[in-house]
Amino acid sequence: MKRTKPRLAVLISGTGSNMEAIAAACRSGLLDAEIAVVISDNPNAAGLSRARKMRIETVACPYKRGIPRGENEIPIIEEIRGRDVDWIVLAGYMKILTSDFVRTFPGRVVNIHPSLLPAFPGAHAIRDALDAGADFTGVTIHIVDELVDHGPIIAQEEVVILPGDTEETLASRIHAVEHKLYPRTLQELIHEDI
Ligand code: GRF
Repeated sequence: MKRTKPRLAVLISGTGSNMEAIAAACRSGLLDAEIAVVISDNPNAAGLSRARKMRIETVACPYKRGIPRGENEIPIIEEIRGRDVDWIVLAGYMKILTSDFVRTFPGRVVNIHPSLLPAFPGAHAIRDALDAGADFTGVTIHIVDELVDHGPIIAQEEVVILPGDTEETLASRIHAVEHKLYPRTLQELIHEDI
């Protein structure tokens, strides 16, 4: 069967609001692509139920402690390989990928990070920006290379930090930016406008 649209595997660990925004953009036509599968290392991720409600195929590949990261990635790689996927979209996927994983899909793994990289890499970027007393932070979308929160930047958008902001209020404005920027940037990337 001839395939019509680029196929995405979306990797999540939690809420899945970015996955949902991407799925909605695929449905509305803003993003000319389809989600082939949503994969989570966390079988209880809320994002898995959100995806199922949208009738998107989901797979849980529960992360096992005590075995190397690379071994944990094998089932994920198999799930992706079995689905003729073009792009791997990290959307709140909280495990650090091995170099082997990145080399398996060179230049094809995209990540979104809630800061203006290289500022505030790591798992607590929003809190770190507040703790540092920064006036602004933002959102970065980048191609994943073998370092953490690193690789060619394809889009960034600033978010001002307001007096009295808490982690919650700032996160909610950052998410609002992410939900627009990620689908739009994927559309440009996938259709080679970047
Ligand atoms: C987002 O803020 C994203 O930048 C970061 O993890 C968060 C995921 O949120 N990598 P959600 O699961 O998409 O709601």
